Amino acid sequence: MFWANQTKLLVLLVLLFLAFLLFQPFYCPSHSPGLIRKSSQKHVLILSTCRSGSSFVGQLFSQHPDVFYLMEPAWHVWMNLSCANAGQLQMAVRDLVRSVFLCDMSVFDAYMAWGPRKQSNLFLWQTSRALCSPPACHLFNREAIIPPADCKTLCSKQPFSNVQEACRSYSHVVIKEVRFFSLKPLHPLLTDPSLNLKIIHLIRDPRAVFRSRQNTEQDMMHDNHMILGKQWNTIKKEDRPYYMMKIICQSHKEIYEAAQLLPDSLRERYLLIRYEDLVQDPLTQTAKLYEFAGLPFLPHLQIWVHNLTQGKGMGKHPFDTDSRNARNISQAWRWSLPHDKVVKLQKICNDTMDLMGYLPILSEEDQRNLSMAVLSTLELP
Ligand SMILES: *[C@@H]1O[C@H](CO)[C@@H](O)[C@H](O)[C@H]1NC(C)=O
Ligand SMILES: *[C@@H]1O[C@H](CO)[C@@H](O)[C@H](O)[C@H]1NC(C)=O
Ligand SMILES: *[C@@H]1O[C@H](CO)[C@@H](O)[C@H](O)[C@H]1NC(C)=O
Ligand SMILES: *[C@@H]1O[C@H](CO)[C@@H](O)[C@H](O)[C@H]1NC(C)=O
Ligand SMILES: *[C@@H]1O[C@H](CO)[C@@H](O)[C@H](O)[C@H]1NC(C)=O
Repeated sequence: MFWANQTKLLVLLVLLFLAFLLFQPFYCPSHSPGLIRKSSQKHVLILSTCRSGSSFVGQLFSQHPDVFYLMEPAWHVWMNLSCANAGQLQMAVRDLVRSVFLCDMSVFDAYMAWGPRKQSNLFLWQTSRALCSPPACHLFNREAIIPPADCKTLCSKQPFSNVQEACRSYSHVVIKEVRFFSLKPLHPLLTDPSLNLKIIHLIRDPRAVFRSRQNTEQDMMHDNHMILGKQWNTIKKEDRPYYMMKIICQSHKEIYEAAQLLPDSLRERYLLIRYEDLVQDPLTQTAKLYEFAGLPFLPHLQIWVHNLTQGKGMGKHPFDTDSRNARNISQAWRWSLPHDKVVKLQKICNDTMDLMGYLPILSEEDQRNLSMAVLSTLELP
């Protein structure tokens, strides 16, 4: 009697085990769809520094109907942990970026006040077309070009949970960040099997960056303070912009050189683009960016980008810089910066400029003479 029971139990256990093997896929309903989603979603990081045209590149992606886009999510990290410096926060920024790529928006719990949240609690949320169209907001069409100003007026009341829901409904997640100064913290993301990450490294002529930063000095105070860290107090006020440019130029060089050392399988996940090339020929360069990201250059986007080159912007709300303006603005340093400052910058950023094909200007006459080239063609390996 005892042995018979034992045998029955054994048979039952074997049957249960077989059943488990057979039906295992259905036992983990919460895992399987997640895995499928993660491996098919593509992730793009637009890696740049302030005043380098990254908002413009961000819009090229944000307006694509296959893209969920967020601009500077790490702003929240820097605002809430502002007693630390940029270097100390790199890993926190990296982890936030990873969570956003995986559409896990609970990561913002650490950086936002408690209580009911709206999607408008996100920094510059209205620059994300995905947060202005279904499923986040039903007042615009998903396939439309949506001006951020219109979105801000009409979609600001939507709950924060819409951000995650919207993110999950797209094939591509694109983030723009100016808060990384090295490729090192990003290396684990490049090899992370749950991500499918590509990096667009956007650079701009340091002389143009310097001029643009001068015009927005007040807005950049907080960031500059965090980037210079303890050095802030020891550097004279008038020297700070040059120290900043030194850090910016060095970090671009380091990122570029680190990317060249990646194994081939990762090296192809990195693309360098110069802002000047983009504003000179937006259609060709946008096609290149989309191809790299695995996005189709849809007809309405081709018309839109063409319109930008004609200075038509987006109706009465062109985004910050339309491309005709951008072409002019990218040369503005040549008449608005004193030549001695240009010389100083060329010294500070010498290596980076040589590497990226930015030509030095040797006299004041040459600086003002717009027929003198300041850009050589960039032959990338
Ligand atoms: C984080 O910063 C935001 C914006 O400055 C603020 O509203 C929020 O209360 C801060 N949260 C924490 C936990 O400090
Ligand atoms: C392009 O410009 C034309 C003429 O201004 C305008 O009618 C059209 O809506 C624009 N298209 C896009 C996609 O921006
Ligand atoms: C470029 O900008 C300068 C200064 O704002 C202006 O004087 C000039 O007319 C502009 N050129 C073009 C082609 O828009
Ligand atoms: C950098 O310095 C080298 C050597 O002095 C010089 O030949 C080169 O033109 C400089 N490049 C720039 C962009 O100033
Ligand atoms: C401006 O530069 C061009 C190209 O180098 C040169 O041919 C022209 O003589 C220069 N003009 C003046 C006024 O220096």
